[in-house]
Order: sequence, then structure tokens, then C-alpha cells
Amino acid sequence: MILIDINPKNKNPLYQQIIRQLAALIDSNSLRPGDRLPATRQLARQLGVHRSTVVRAYDELLALGYIHSQQGGYSTVRQKQKLATSSKQHSKTYFRWEEALSQSAKQTIDKIWTPGSINKNKHQLDFESFDLDQRMIPVETIRKSINHALCDEGADLLKYGPSAGYYPLRKLIARRLAVHAIKVLPEEILITHGAQHGMDLVLRLLTNTGDAITIEDPTYGLFLPLTAAHRLKVHGIPMLSTGMDLDVFEKLIHDQHIKLIYTMPNFHNPTGITTDQHHRERLLELCVKHNIVIIEDAFDEEMKYFGRVPLPIKSMDRQGNVIYLGTFSKVLSPGMRMGWIAAPTPCIDAMTYFRRALDLSSPLPLQAAITRILRRDDFEKHIQRLHRAFRQRMLAAIKTLRQNLPAQVQWTPPSGGYLIWLTLVDIPLTEHRIIAALNREGILVSPGSRFSVNSNPWPCFRISISQRDKDEIINGLKLLCNVLKQLYGIAPNKD
Ligand SMILES: Cc1ncc(COP(=O)(O)O)c(C=O)c1O
Repeated sequence: MILIDINPKNKNPLYQQIIRQLAALIDSNSLRPGDRLPATRQLARQLGVHRSTVVRAYDELLALGYIHSQQGGYSTVRQKQKLATSSKQHSKTYFRWEEALSQSAKQTIDKIWTPGSINKNKHQLDFESFDLDQRMIPVETIRKSINHALCDEGADLLKYGPSAGYYPLRKLIARRLAVHAIKVLPEEILITHGAQHGMDLVLRLLTNTGDAITIEDPTYGLFLPLTAAHRLKVHGIPMLSTGMDLDVFEKLIHDQHIKLIYTMPNFHNPTGITTDQHHRERLLELCVKHNIVIIEDAFDEEMKYFGRVPLPIKSMDRQGNVIYLGTFSKVLSPGMRMGWIAAPTPCIDAMTYFRRALDLSSPLPLQAAITRILRRDDFEKHIQRLHRAFRQRMLAAIKTLRQNLPAQVQWTPPSGGYLIWLTLVDIPLTEHRIIAALNREGILVSPGSRFSVNSNPWPCFRISISQRDKDEIINGLKLLCNVLKQLYGIAPNKD
């Protein structure tokens, strides 16, 4: 007879008390593999419980791997596998995940920099993060829109959504793009989890391992690892103050087959440069002539708060060479992970089928919420508020840098967006030493090497004003200029 003691007054149900005690007997080897358990009827009688209580306990022990059961026969104790512990407690025989990684995963990881944000504290002057200032995220509008969307559409929003995206949102994005002179139909829009996802989809759709592509040098820091993931050959085209050097690009495309070019014509990340109209037209002409796809990353299209910005390349794309990437990350919320691709229908149709196999679709509740924000004038009002704030902030940044930067520092004042790029000419110090000197004063910036394909002739770094208000920008940049003056051996300002 098995010694089990159950207590009807105990708060745990009777069947669980049976499970726990039988499992303890097996774990402690008091019951061994092959030992027979009493028949359910017999154990029920012994414990004074209903037979179904014992049957339920045996069923669970079977599911937990403690016992075997044969139809109409006795249950016996099983040789139980030990349960796995956390993967943190590695042993010598543990599966070697590091070795299992694919070549492209290893190369991608090698190229990814870890954001300094891990060790950030609130006393630091953070000009490194390129997240929208949390104070500018319209939390209440977003909350209400999610709420209204679910109240209005209920379970329809909790199904699988269409792979190309929620049609009303595609329609409103097409309408919004008309403000930027881009004429597309809703069918030419595919909703993505942000522009980063859009880039990955486009590269998956269009490139084969080893294909040659061109990018601006420097370029967006997370596009570089993505090209490693796709095992592409990357040619960097130097940036001039008017856009990428098209003479270098033209020579390159005469010499070899280039599949596509990735460009950020507005408020380029990291340099803040806006490609001028003439450059945009010539780039498009060259790509049409040589059958090259243009990926136009318009991550900051809405941040034209100074006015004077040329129209997107997509607005001039009569031959259908341009794939336009948009996002709500830099104006609404990066955490919602909502963006889109605008491209000719054959490209969007192929992408829609393809995307289905990759991740099915984007979340419907968030798409429906953004639709509501776009539908009312909430979005327009919010953009105007952002423009007022960042026009002031960028003007303050430009004025502070003009008044305080050492003459040796080269930069192009941006005509919108959030980013400023400084090149420290004639300085006998490494990028590492310069960044360390700034960090000692609590100033965080992004080192230029994160963005570069070829090494820079002089140390550079990126300043992002996306998180800072006007006073923080003035005080932070004055301090930054003083550090640079010290590094150049110039007497710093007193105030
Ligand atoms: C140039 C550029 N493109 C794309 C992205 C990624 O945007 P999303 O959040 O929409 O994926 C960023 C983010 O900083 C960016 O700077």
C-alpha cells in the first residue's frame, strides 16, 4: 500500500494533493521506474475520495511524464527525463548556439553597435539617442484612438489582418503623401513594422547573395548590418553638402552592375544634409537609364519645419524605379512600429505574397488606431506642434554652434529634422579620445565610425536634438563646444 495522506481541509484540491505526494515519492526514488501504482478504484477507496479524483491525478501525472498508463491496465512509474534548467546555467554538454549561428548572422552581429543608452542616466546630456522626445508623444490621442478602434470594430480587429495592411490606413497614407506631391493609389501602399522592416522586405524581395548595391557614406547605422544579413556587396558614395557625390556614383555604375541604391534625401542620417533638387533629378535620371532601383528612405519627411525642402524623389518617379519608405516613428511613436512602403503595384503585389510567408501582417488594432488619428485633424495639429517646437530647438542649436564651435569644425546647418554632423578637421586625436572627453563632461553623442563604410579622414560625430528641449540644447551644446575648444587648445568661453 502506498502511503499518502490527504487533507480535505487543505486549500489545495484533493487531486493536486495526490499528484504532489506521488510525484514526491517518485522524485525521491521511494517509487522506482516499473513500480505499479494502485488501481484508481483501490486508491480512491483507501483515501476515501471519489474515483474520478484519482483518475484526474493519474492523468496529470501521465502528462507530467511521471507514469505510463495502459488501456485497461495498471499505471506504472516511468523513467523520467530531468527537466531543463535555465540556459544561463551552461554545462559543457550544452548546445553550442554560438557555433550554430549562420555566417550572415555572425557578420550582421559584428556590424551592430550597442547603443550607449544601456548605461544612460538622467544627468547626462544625451545627444546620442534618436528617439522622439517622450514629452512630444501624444499619448492621450493614441490611447483614445486604440480604445475607439476596438469599441467600433471589436473582434474584426483581433483577426489576422490582410498582408498588405488595413485598407483604410493605406487609403489615408496615400492621401497624406499627396501633401508631399507623391501621387499613389492605396493599392501602391504596403504597411510595415516601421521603415527598418521596409528595408528588410525590399532587400529580401530584390537582392541575391553577392549583389552589389550603393549607399551614401556615411549612412544610417542600422542599414549597414542589414546589408551584411543579406550578404550584399556595398559601395559607399561620399556625401557632399548637396547630396551624395553623383560623379563617383556615375563612374561606379559604368564600371559594374548595381542593383539598387539606398538614399535619404531629407535630413540625412547621420549628416543632416538635404539633397538639393538638381541632385535628386540627376540621381533619378541615372537610375532610370541604368535600370537601378532607388530606395528612398523618407524617415523624416514630415519634419520640414523650415519650409525650403525639395520634393521627394518619388514625386518625380514617372518610370516606377523608386521604392519609398515611410514611418510614423519619428513623429508619432517609434514603439508602435508602424511604417509603410509606397511602390508601383507589381512590386507591392509581389511583396504582399512574399510578406505573408515572412510575418503574415501588421497588428490590426494599431493600424486602425493610426487610421483614426490621420482621419481627424489630430495628426495635422500634432505635426504643427512638433514643427513649432523643433523649429525653435534647431534654431537654438544652430545659433549656439555658430557662436561657439572652433573654426576648425566643419558642419552644414540642417534645413529640418533632428540631426547635426560635426567633422573635426586638423585634430591630432582619435575619435575614441574625442568621444571619451565629451563623455567625461556627461555629453553623449554618436561616433562617426558607426555610420561609415570607408574610414573618415577626420574624426566625426552625430548630434541628435530629438530628445532635448531648447534650454537643454543651448546649455549642452555650449558645454560641448567648450570641450572641443579645449581639445583644440583654445581658451573655452567663461559663461
Ligand atoms: C534613416 C532611418 N531610417 C529608418 C529608421 C528606422 O525607422 P523605424 O522605426 O520606422 O523602423 C531610422 C531610425 O532611426 C532611421 O534613422
